[in-house]
Parts: sequence; C-alpha cells; structure tokens
Amino acid sequence: MKYNFDEIVNRRNTYSLKWDGGELIKAIGFTERYDSETIPLFTADMDLPVPQPIIDALHKTVDHRIFGYSVFPDEYYESIQHWFKKRHDWKISREEIVYSPGTVHALNVAVKALTKPGDGVIIQRPVYPPFTAAVEGNGRVVQNNALKCDSEGNYTIDFEDFESKAKEETTTMFILCNPHNPAGRIFTQEELKRLSDICEEHNVLIVADEIHGDLIRKNQTFYPIAKVANNTDHILTCTAINKTFNVAGLHCTNVVISNPDIRKIFSEAMGMHLPSPFTVSALIAAYNEGADWLEQLKEYLDETMEYVKNFFAKNLPTVKVSIPEGTYVMWLDFRGYGLSSKEVHDRIYNKANVVLEDGELFGEEGEGFQRICIPSPRPIIKEALERISLQFQDVESEILLKS
Ligand SMILES: Cc1ncc(COP(=O)(O)O)c(C=O)c1O
Repeated sequence: MKYNFDEIVNRRNTYSLKWDGGELIKAIGFTERYDSETIPLFTADMDLPVPQPIIDALHKTVDHRIFGYSVFPDEYYESIQHWFKKRHDWKISREEIVYSPGTVHALNVAVKALTKPGDGVIIQRPVYPPFTAAVEGNGRVVQNNALKCDSEGNYTIDFEDFESKAKEETTTMFILCNPHNPAGRIFTQEELKRLSDICEEHNVLIVADEIHGDLIRKNQTFYPIAKVANNTDHILTCTAINKTFNVAGLHCTNVVISNPDIRKIFSEAMGMHLPSPFTVSALIAAYNEGADWLEQLKEYLDETMEYVKNFFAKNLPTVKVSIPEGTYVMWLDFRGYGLSSKEVHDRIYNKANVVLEDGELFGEEGEGFQRICIPSPRPIIKEALERISLQFQDVESEILLKS
C-alpha cells in the first residue's frame, strides 16, 4: 500500500508529549514558550501514522475486549529473529532476547546491575542526554570520549582517547550510540570492531543502543556491533520497534545478550515485566509486515533531509547543515552567526515559536548547535523553517554585507 506522509494528523489532545506536553517541557526547561501555535520538533517521535498492519493488529487486540496479563508467544521471538537476520544479517538466538519496557530503562538497569558506584562509564558526547543521566544518576562517573568534529561537521571517534579511558582500572562500561544521536554517524565495521576489541581487552562491557539502526539513509548500511565483533560475551544490544515504527508509546525494547551470566544478572535486575497485549501484537505485525512502510518512510525522510539542507543553503547559508548517515535527527550548527546560545535559543523558541533541542543538552560539545527532529509531514517542517529563517535574516544580511 502507498502511504501519504504529507498528511497532517492533528496530535493535539491525544496525550502526545510533543503536542500536549507544553507544561512538562517548560518545567524541565526546554522552552519558555509553548502555546497552541508552537511547532514542536524536539522529541524523537514521528508525526506520521504507523504501518497499516500495526493498526489492524491493534484493532484485533481491542476487539478482544479483554486486556489481561499477557505473555510473549513464540511468534514474538521469531519475528525479532527474522527481522534482524533479514535486514542486518544478524543471527539472534531466542534465549538471548530480554524484554524491557524501554531503552532508557534498559540502560539504567544495565548501569546499576553491571557496574559499581564510582565506576567509570564511557560515553561519546555530544550524545542523547539520558546517557549522561544513566551514568551520573546512578552514582557512576562519565568518561567522555568526545567525538571529534571537523570543519565540515563530520564526526569521528578519537580512538587514542577511547583506549586510554578504557584502560583505566575503574572503567567498566561503554554505552555506544549507533547510529549516533545527534551526530548522525553510522559507525563502520572497522570502527565497531576496533571499539569492541579495545573493550574486550580491557574488560569493559558494551551496552549498544542501536534503536535507530533501521532509520538510515537509502545508500547506507548499518552493522550491529554484535555482528562484527570477534566475541560478543561483553556486548548487550538494545533493539526496539519504538523508533523504527513510531510506537514509542507501546514500550517495546528487546535487549540481546549472548553471555548467559550477564543475561542472568541483567534479567534479575530488570525483574519480571509482563508485556501489554498491544505491545506483543504491534511487534509481530511491525517486524513481519512493516518493511514496505519502512522503505517508503526512508525515502520520505531522505527527501525531507534534502529539503532541510537546501532550505538552509538558500535562506540561512551561515547555518551548517549536513545530512546524517542514520537517525531522523539533524544537527544544525548555528555558530557562524557569532551569537550566544541564549540568543539563538530566544530567536527560535520564543520568537519563531518552534521548539527544537538546545545543543548543550547533549554536552558542552553541542554548544551553538540545535537538534531538529524531521519525521513530520513536510508542510510542518517547511513552516517551522520559514519561521526560523525570518528570525535570522538580520544577522544573515550583516554577514552578506561584510563578505
Ligand atoms: C539513542 C536513543 N536511545 C533511546 C531513546 C529512548 O528510547 P526509549 O523510549 O525506548 O526509552 C531515544 C529516543 O529519542 C534515543 O534517541
């Protein structure tokens, strides 16, 4: 079936964090302004309807009329195994799969169960803020192996620094984000193998958050670290339908852990989580029947990214924008204006009335950047960009005059 991703579905009054969560996001300090005219492009969920097979499966579950305690049927595990084998050539055994109601929850459980208070945990900033929270919030210490950014906005790993941090006696875990949010990198097989080898050598566990792994540009290939590593005994991988199929509200992450001892510790710390019947039916439908939708979605996201890049090149050429290899977030570099981060924030959030995410929330390396989530109907993205553009025309003209 052909999907129309340009269709605007009104999400207000649907308990949406993005569209109804103004009070919450003001309280946590993301924005001062949030009203009925705000365009929210901050959180990573899509304003796009999910694949029809998921909707049909959920209808079927509703039609049962009874929503009691549920279990994971064989089909649940088989669907996961089939998806990862077919799409990523990654063979997962059924017993390796541990359910978690969320990825952030899984990261926190892993940190608490598999490291000790005071241990060092490597993360690669600028990075999705809950990584820092999972480390510091649990009394562990961030070892920041900051990504290196060149003048074109390309991010690479500082391996020398990584190894020196991994070598430290107190470093016991590395939380990998691949594809990387917000830097947009999909790490190569060589990079992943090198990271895995260093961690294996220095007894550092890897928790790989790969939940953006299906959301990659058409010309890209994503490699799960557990597939390219020599040995997977030190690797836990978070996979999810949440991002791929826009069902974050259904709470479905599956953590793949091949090492039985680590799996036991992690599972015990996780405790018993029975699934919602909606989660089970959605996952089976998504992984068995959602591929066609995903291919169409990827095309739409690629086109939107081209649109965003071209829009900035034409209207605000001082803002550096590159198309990420993976994820549906774009990382906009506003530093060329020489404005303070506060001033950039004020122009976008208060004056343009568009809510993005300030770069410094991802670590000091993000200072001067803004993250925009683009999986919305293109008319919404266009309006947001036009509003933002109006607020920077004065500084853009000044720069033009000087050149
Ligand atoms: C890299 C990454 N990990 C985890 C999450 C959140 O996942 P969950 O809703 O499963 O906790 C996000 C959401 O934006 C994310 O970008």
